[in-house]
Parts: sequence; structure tokens; C-alpha cells
Amino acid sequence: MAADADRPAVDGALWDDLAEFHGTDPDDRSYDVETFLAGGQTLRGIERELAGDVTGKELLHLQCHFGMDTLSWARLGARVTGVDSCPEAVARARRLAERAGLEAEFVEAAAQRLPDALAARFDLVVATYGVLSWVGDLDAWMSGAASALRPGGRLVLVDSHPVFQAVLTFDPFVADRPHGGGAPHHDAMTGGYAHADVPAEPRTSTRYPYSLGQIVRAATSAGLVVERLGEHTETETGGRHLLPQGPDGLYRFPFSDTCLPILYSLRAVRPSALGGA
Ligand SMILES: C[S@@+](CC[C@H](N)C(=O)[O-])C[C@H]1O[C@@H](n2cnc3c(N)ncnc32)[C@H](O)[C@@H]1O
Repeated sequence: MAADADRPAVDGALWDDLAEFHGTDPDDRSYDVETFLAGGQTLRGIERELAGDVTGKELLHLQCHFGMDTLSWARLGARVTGVDSCPEAVARARRLAERAGLEAEFVEAAAQRLPDALAARFDLVVATYGVLSWVGDLDAWMSGAASALRPGGRLVLVDSHPVFQAVLTFDPFVADRPHGGGAPHHDAMTGGYAHADVPAEPRTSTRYPYSLGQIVRAATSAGLVVERLGEHTETETGGRHLLPQGPDGLYRFPFSDTCLPILYSLRAVRPSALGGA
């Protein structure tokens, strides 16, 4: 699989801009900082169910952005560490922890090259919503996640489904992005996924599309044992803000007389010895 620099200059600058801007505008579609600071939860049912009771658990949140989900795990009783490669995101996450009065450690690092100090420390490694498509070296990412787990610890991964990632717009329906393969794909990007008017330069961002088969293979190659693999046709949040919301408040991706998957979820356990396939 393609190896890339951990923080390509263009995407690095993009994340600096987004980390500074997200949650600062009332029209933000993804990040409601005020509700979070008032005690709100940002986690969704899928990852909470897969993680189980996190009370007292050591939890590592990969690609934590500015930390709202990381701190939401802390609110559920976990002892949390968040990792992100974007310095602005890490700095803002630390400030948010202080404002929320929650204990958390935030580390600036690439997920595919985690510091040794994080090795074999965690009961849970969690990565959710907008994760693997930014990573050029999937095998290195999985090995990092596996190495951070204690024997018996679990990886919980919830992300956009590869089929849904191929969709550019739902109405009109345009699906011209690649499915799987892992080769870098360049997208023109104006605005951001949480807000149409991010005051940032229009940019080209680089995405790496992985199929479910590639993701499962990378997990098993890293020595993990896959316990659960789910494909989800409903989501509580906006599904990249492309999809229609049903009267029950859920978003679906209608296709013919059925629905296509929007998210996938994977839970995998680290056996006592990390062998690798
Ligand atoms: C879409 S955001 C994740 C959103 C996240 N689910 C949340 O809680 O807001 C993606 C994040 O991944 C980070 N990132 C991208 N590539 C990374 C890498 N190789 N290692 C660590 N963080 C990375 C970016 O800086 C950004 O904060």
C-alpha cells in the first residue's frame, strides 16, 4: 500500500484551518461546542455499543481532531488520550478539556507512527468518522492501532462506508470517486464537511479509498482478530450532509427499493501475542 508523508503540506494546512474554524459558527453542521460544554454527548450509538462500558478503561482516540468525542468518552468514565497530527487541533483539544473541566492527554502524532510511550497501554483504541481515507499507509495505521492495545484490548473503528465514499453528490446523483484500491485521489475542496463557508483557500485534498476487504485484511495482517463487522444503512448524523433525513430523524441512502450502506463498523481484539498474518 502507498506510503506517504505523515502530514502532507496541503492537507496539513487544510486541517489547521478546519481545526481552528470548526464549532465556532452557529451554522456549523457537525460541531456544537456550546451544547458539549453544557454537558452534551457527541458519541453515537454504534461506537458506544461496540465499546461497551468504558468506566475506568484506558482509551486511545486516534485522529481526535479538537477533542469533542475524546472528551465525551471521558464523560462516560474512560481515561482518555487523543492523538492527532494537526498541531492546531491538539492545542484546541487541550483548551477544550480545560474549559470542560475534564482530564485528558492530547498527543501530536501521526496515527501510523505512534510514540513508543503509547505502546501496549490501552484497553480500547477508537477511531471514528473521517479517519482512514486521510491515511496513505493503511498497514502502518493498523499496526500502530494494534501495538497501542494491551493483550485482550479492542479496536473500535466506525467510518464512512467505501461505497458511500464513492458518492460525490446524492441529488443529483453523482458517484465518480474511486472505490477501494488505496491509490491517492485528489479532490477539489472548497468549504468543509461541517460548514460550507470555511474561510480557507480552495484546496486540493488527497484521499485514499480503501475497500472493506482491504480494511479487514489490514486488521488481520496487523495481528488483530476481527470480532464484528457491520454495514449500516441508517445514521443519526448527516452522512456527509448529502443524504435526506427521514421523518424518524435518521439519514438513509435510498437506492432502487433498498438502501445502500453509509457507515461500516469493525471491532477487533488483540490476542496475547501480536503475530500478524
Ligand atoms: C475528519 S477529522 C476527524 C473527525 C473526528 N471524528 C472528530 O471527532 O471530529 C480527521 C482528523 O484526522 C487528522 N489526521 C489526518 N491524518 C492523520 C494522521 N495520519 N494521523 C493522525 N491524525 C490525522 C486530521 O488532523 C483531523 O483532525
